[in-house]
Amino acid sequence: VQLLYDPRDAAYHERVGSQILHWLDDVGAIPIHDADPSQDAFLFAGARPMADYRELTGDLPLVRDRPDEREPLLRLDTVLHALKIAAIRVPSPRTWILPLDAPLPRDMKFPLFVRTASSSWKKGGKISKVHSVKELKTEAAELRRVLGWDTVLLAREWLDFAAAGNGRYGPVAQEVRTWCVDGLPVAWSFHHMHLIARPRGFPPLESELTVLKSMATDVAAAFRSRLVVADFARDRIGKWWFIEAGPGSCAGTGHEIVFKSVAKRLRREQSDWQGDSVGGPL
Ligand SMILES: Nc1ncnc2c1ncn2[C@@H]1O[C@H](COP(=O)(O)OP(=O)(O)OP(=O)(O)O)[C@@H](O)[C@H]1O
Ligand SMILES: [Mg+2]
Repeated sequence: VQLLYDPRDAAYHERVGSQILHWLDDVGAIPIHDADPSQDAFLFAGARPMADYRELTGDLPLVRDRPDEREPLLRLDTVLHALKIAAIRVPSPRTWILPLDAPLPRDMKFPLFVRTASSSWKKGGKISKVHSVKELKTEAAELRRVLGWDTVLLAREWLDFAAAGNGRYGPVAQEVRTWCVDGLPVAWSFHHMHLIARPRGFPPLESELTVLKSMATDVAAAFRSRLVVADFARDRIGKWWFIEAGPGSCAGTGHEIVFKSVAKRLRREQSDWQGDSVGGPL
């Protein structure tokens, strides 16, 4: 299996301080334009529009993910929909989808966490918490002004996550990214390594990793992508909640060993490796 990347992503990785392209290079990945079309491959590619991804992979029918394997993972509304139709139940905050101009659902309970289907965009990484219909309307207008008037918004039950530490904008959640290759969880990593080097509450207990592994297996089962990331956060009582899932093809992490082990697993290599306090095998 060839590991491929899209060299157009270099500027993005540079800008956010991501080492992923270097790590891919270290494990022998090559630019997509050098791919051998007769060989199986997996492509790491940034989150551009689907038309771009179709074009990129159009002449390479053996490249995974296929566009239809990737597409449902790009937006939180389609992720939640896929879980629902696959009848998968993992603990997850109650979520209301807010289409443009539709009356607000009557059963919403405040406070709520507000984000769009594709991002929780907020200047500098602040999180949107709203306490009333009035605040929700203001926030919705702001998100739509910046991200497009027809942006789908999601309002989610607010969860009080345990703090891993304090970032520039306040407490940072104890949140784990799990990495699933061909439906099997193979690794976990602390999701906010770039903000907190020594997070409180890490590594999770063995028994918690077992829970996370089982929840990640459930989530991955709703998708056909070869590499799914599923994120979970621990609340103040110690319960783990499913936050979101996405295509591993464009997933970020600061954990080199985790990322490289995952990349090798896509090549179907079995390797013995050791984790540390912020990431390891599952
Ligand atoms: N229901 C919630 N209640 C409180 N905080 C939440 C909730 N859902 C998410 N968060 C916090 O907000 C952060 C961003 O949310 P989310 O992961 O859904 O958006 P995102 O745009 O994908 O963010 P990122 O790109 O940083 O992963 C999470 O890492 C978590 O700490
Ligand atoms: Mg996230």
